[in-house]
Amino acid sequence: MRILFIGDVVGSPGRDMVKEYLPKLKEKYRPTITIINGENAASGKGINEKIYRSFLEWGAQAVTLGNHAWDKKEIFDFIDSAKYLVRPANLPPEVPGKGIAYLKVNQDEVAVINLQGRTFLPAIDCPFKKADELISEARERTPIIFVDFHAEATSEKLAMGWYLDGRVTAVIGTHTHVQTADNRILPEGTAYLTDAGMTGPYDGILGVQREAVLKRFLTSLPVRFEVTEGGRNQLSGAIIDLDNKTGKAKKIERVLINDDHPFYG
Ligand SMILES: [Fe+2]
Repeated sequence: MRILFIGDVVGSPGRDMVKEYLPKLKEKYRPTITIINGENAASGKGINEKIYRSFLEWGAQAVTLGNHAWDKKEIFDFIDSAKYLVRPANLPPEVPGKGIAYLKVNQDEVAVINLQGRTFLPAIDCPFKKADELISEARERTPIIFVDFHAEATSEKLAMGWYLDGRVTAVIGTHTHVQTADNRILPEGTAYLTDAGMTGPYDGILGVQREAVLKRFLTSLPVRFEVTEGGRNQLSGAIIDLDNKTGKAKKIERVLINDDHPFYG
């Protein structure tokens, strides 16, 4: 089985890239399933039902979230009925939605888990202990377990990768919007990447208009962050090959499409 993961889709530039390149990536790599992190997909913060549905229409099978999951209020109206929308699992139990989804793929099943880090992010439940709990639940059904670990600190992400090595198929980091080059298969068979990178504006700062970010750094005054529109865009992600029987990863490659890394079909 092959899993294509697309990192943090930011606003309409990111959505346009998914619409344009997902069919091309599917043709080139023939992934069995595609998972998209969509926590920034609606104008840079949050997601709405229309966008969630368009990701599924364009060919994704699951959409993961993160710390911006709740930024568009309408999420509360549809998250409980969105079967393939996965929010951070380590939130208090009364929070709507779910942190794990199961995708049926022919005879196999893939568990998709979303966890959120606690270093430089709001204090929530322990992602490591939540991972233990969800993995023992998932392993009753399937050895194929994909984890999107939405976290800021490289150390916390690496720690999660090593903690889960051999127990899940992949630990792929999201949230920092810059792709790291440390893709590897850990010794016990877990594919690991600290951050898949961002899908959206190529010339902004993490997807945001440069002027606003620079003003914040230069003056420390509050500024409104808007997504950079109308410029060059990029798509970032990863492709994981795995053994269906054992759930162990065999290969992980990065995907990066922008003007400096053109796509070859
Ligand atoms: Fe985030």
